[in-house]
Amino acid sequence: MSYSSGRHFLQIPGPTNVPERVLRAISAPTVDHRGGAFGRFASELLESTKEVFGTASPVIIYPSSGTGAWEAALVNTLSPGDSVLMFEVGQFSTLWADMARRLGLNVRFVEGDWRSGPTPADIERILTEDSAHAIKAVGIVHNETATGITARIGEVRKAMDRAGHPALLLVDAISSLGSMEFRHDEWGVDVTIAGSQKGLMLPPGLGFNAISEKAMGANKTARLPRAYWDWQSMLSQNKIGFFPYTPATNLLYGLRESLAMLREEGLENVWVRHNRHAESTRRAVRAWGLEVVSRNPDQQSSTVTAVVMPIGHSADEFRRVVLERFNMSLGSGLGKVADKVFRIGHLGDFNDLMLAGTLCGVEMGLAVAGVPHSRGGAAAAMEHLTAMAQQAQGTPAAVR
Ligand SMILES: Cc1ncc(COP(=O)(O)O)c(C=O)c1O
Repeated sequence: MSYSSGRHFLQIPGPTNVPERVLRAISAPTVDHRGGAFGRFASELLESTKEVFGTASPVIIYPSSGTGAWEAALVNTLSPGDSVLMFEVGQFSTLWADMARRLGLNVRFVEGDWRSGPTPADIERILTEDSAHAIKAVGIVHNETATGITARIGEVRKAMDRAGHPALLLVDAISSLGSMEFRHDEWGVDVTIAGSQKGLMLPPGLGFNAISEKAMGANKTARLPRAYWDWQSMLSQNKIGFFPYTPATNLLYGLRESLAMLREEGLENVWVRHNRHAESTRRAVRAWGLEVVSRNPDQQSSTVTAVVMPIGHSADEFRRVVLERFNMSLGSGLGKVADKVFRIGHLGDFNDLMLAGTLCGVEMGLAVAGVPHSRGGAAAAMEHLTAMAQQAQGTPAAVR
């Protein structure tokens, strides 16, 4: 293989770029994970991890990928045969429902077209109809990474309350936490599921469950078998800064650093930055004359933009050209939309110029791969980025 000069552009929607500061933190020597120093470090870390979830409740950290954290949320709160309400919004919501079935749950799966997600009104209607309260949990993906479709979790909670339904609210925030607004306590989420490799700017390998008091109550009577994922054995050890098995020590050092970075930038500023990059990307897509997968403007993701490939053109071939020619990885279409969609990840440790470079790469790639489009997408994005920067600087518009 020949050397590619310059840096690789990793524009998949996770794993994301790991910043130098985090890489350096991870490179510390391993220590005794049952020693006092580690216990003190982990106690502080477990406490400070709550902030990014917007919770005062316990947050559990597993040495796992996000899929493990999905399983943990289900087996700790539910019993065999329990009904769970889930929605088809893309590949990840489909996989989560599949997991729930394999665990012996009765999944009420609301089919979707992968272009839009459920509205709070849809959820309210279904729960109101369930007057016997057979549904024990609503499992919803905050940001469906395969399609770039989001759910408004605060509104979902209100819909559940309007229906007067006692189901638990389980939320997959794997590709939104640390990038998009998220408020576990304020939104009344019962279990928030997250992973390390997206907005938290770490390599893959940590899975998270933030747990409400109500979910903790459900845990006492839940009968699905669990061992590795058991919250109680984790929480009792966490009280003294330890874990029931070997934690991913060095990723935890990285987590301390990435949380410090998010705090230094300010979580709300992080959310605004992601919104700005997403809006700029959508403007680019529109200027190219292409379509964003997510049809409803109020359901469009701030971390990933999925783009529909013109009929008769292969998204995978386009991505191959972009990788070979411009050293940039774009996300593939997953499941039903394989080869029909490509995804631009714009999350994590990312800034305006990195986005401009990314969109230039996409635009040049479209031309090189012979995909029909109009020029000027990158320019449209730059115009928006410039206007936002001018607004932030207080520069009069006339200077433009
Ligand atoms: C929304 C969402 N849920 C679940 C997963 C699965 O997580 P993992 O691949 O870390 O197991 C992903 C992975 O990208 C995801 O984006």
